[in-house]
Amino acid sequence: MTLRGLRSPRSWLVVAFAVVAFGWLSVWVLFFRVGTDVCGDASPTDEELFRCGSIGAEPQLGVPYWIWVVLPDVFPEYLPGPGGYESVGIIWEDGASTPIGVPVVEIGEMQRAGINCALCHTSSYRVTAESEPVIVLGGGSQRFDLQGYLRFLFKSSSDPRFTAGVLIPAIEEVHELSTAERLLYQAAIPAMRGALKSQSEDFAFADRNPDWGPGRIDPFNPIKFGLLGQPEDETIGNSDMMPLWNLGGREVLHWDGLNSSLTEVILSSAIGDGARPKTLDLAVMARLERYILELEVPAYPFEVDDELAAAGAALFQTHCAACHGLDGEQTGLVVLPGEVGTDQERLGMWEQKDADAYNEKYGGYDWGFSSFQDIDGYVAVPLDGLWLRAPYLHNGSVPTLRDLLELPALRPTSFYRGYDVYDPEQVGFVSDVAEDAESGLVFFLYDTTLRGNSNQGHLWGTELSANQKDALLEYLKTQ
Ligand code: HEC
Ligand code: HEC
Repeated sequence: MTLRGLRSPRSWLVVAFAVVAFGWLSVWVLFFRVGTDVCGDASPTDEELFRCGSIGAEPQLGVPYWIWVVLPDVFPEYLPGPGGYESVGIIWEDGASTPIGVPVVEIGEMQRAGINCALCHTSSYRVTAESEPVIVLGGGSQRFDLQGYLRFLFKSSSDPRFTAGVLIPAIEEVHELSTAERLLYQAAIPAMRGALKSQSEDFAFADRNPDWGPGRIDPFNPIKFGLLGQPEDETIGNSDMMPLWNLGGREVLHWDGLNSSLTEVILSSAIGDGARPKTLDLAVMARLERYILELEVPAYPFEVDDELAAAGAALFQTHCAACHGLDGEQTGLVVLPGEVGTDQERLGMWEQKDADAYNEKYGGYDWGFSSFQDIDGYVAVPLDGLWLRAPYLHNGSVPTLRDLLELPALRPTSFYRGYDVYDPEQVGFVSDVAEDAESGLVFFLYDTTLRGNSNQGHLWGTELSANQKDALLEYLKTQ
């Protein structure tokens, strides 16, 4: 928008509208919200809701849609590699109107691209480098790189070329803007720059810590420092994304058992992603819960040697079932840090005072929280769909199941994360290549010597003989 254009009162009105619509007064914005189809469907199924539905985050964090679309073409240098949003692991299937996990919602006159559960809770794998990816909704993403995505948005919006003069012509190459739309977009650009600048300050703490990399985030520190107003600390909460299948009947959830109610975990996940009490749609949340509870565990897609697996089942019973078997005494419960011996940074990130603050902040609502807690240790997570949970442990520090059955000194000290080609020999994703020759996608080098990234601990099974390990691995494929 030229300075001259800004002198007219009408332009100022448009500016004011867009600034507000960008999220500074989300209540007001909601008044203007109009319904949109989900996945192009006026009455979406629960699956469509999970894949493309809004969880109420867009008034707070939504990016004006057409800017979002052209940004990778205008600022490709700020993405980790070639491939547009795919380089940060966002999956856009052929023919789909929007990527998985990026709902497009109309607020006022403008569509915004947001974020929902499916962005982090969708897994994909390929049986060979030549085959098509198989998408598993509800799996823990091993490819989505939230930090890479945020850094791309932050760097693009603080570049001097982030102007209407550059972005509007780029948009008009792919979409014809109406006059009203053009004015809105012109006004939204400076507003977006300001909003992303303030968000980048909220995430500055993460730049002082080891990078998250794909499939990993520090989910609770932003909540502590931002929403709950706790003083910034030096803790590192980097955690692998988890799958959502078989969550019914679990006594505690999250890697450290910090909440015991699935309903609260779902609502607080939406809040963590940018929803606020006024934008939470409880009916949508209930449908998401229903969908999650019906998710099926994906079967191992390669051959299994049944005889070998049967021998492995007996070993599992002896060495693992107490903590991971269906009726294990400790299955799904928290194991003391001294016993499991894995990296402890994630545990120091969350304390009882944080749990109390979360319960207190939202305790007053009908749906309010009361189940946040702090238990010292990590959950002996159920191992269902284990093959697709790679890389392993809460910090994703061990690339394959075969590596986990080795003593820590023999586990890889560094490896690549973010490839979706599966390795049935090692049982995990291929982790020794830096990039995919075909697509040019580059992967993230995970360094186990950094704080929070240690691959120590969990020694169970490491003492077995090579043959026994083969058998146990074969059995674990069937979990
Ligand atoms: C930006 C990524 C991201 C988004 C978006 C996200 N999650 Fe998660 N989710 C995670 C991570 C990472 C964990 C593990 C965190 C931890 O415990 O440290 C997790 C854990 C969970 C768990 C606990 C699973 C278990 O086995 O204990 C549930 C349930 C869950 N998420 C549901 C949701 C729902 C529902 C939504 C949408 C409303 C959502 N998540 C959105 C990243 C995400
Ligand atoms: C005393 C309890 C206990 C026993 C016995 C035990 N585990 Fe574990 N296991 C845990 C805990 C706790 C974790 C989570 C540790 C973490 O993430 O830091 C875990 C995590 C795992 C994971 C990683 C899961 C994921 O999603 O990343 C695998 C795989 C695993 N265990 C396999 C085994 C096998 C195989 C055996 C038997 C050889 C075994 N465990 C024995 C407690 C146990």
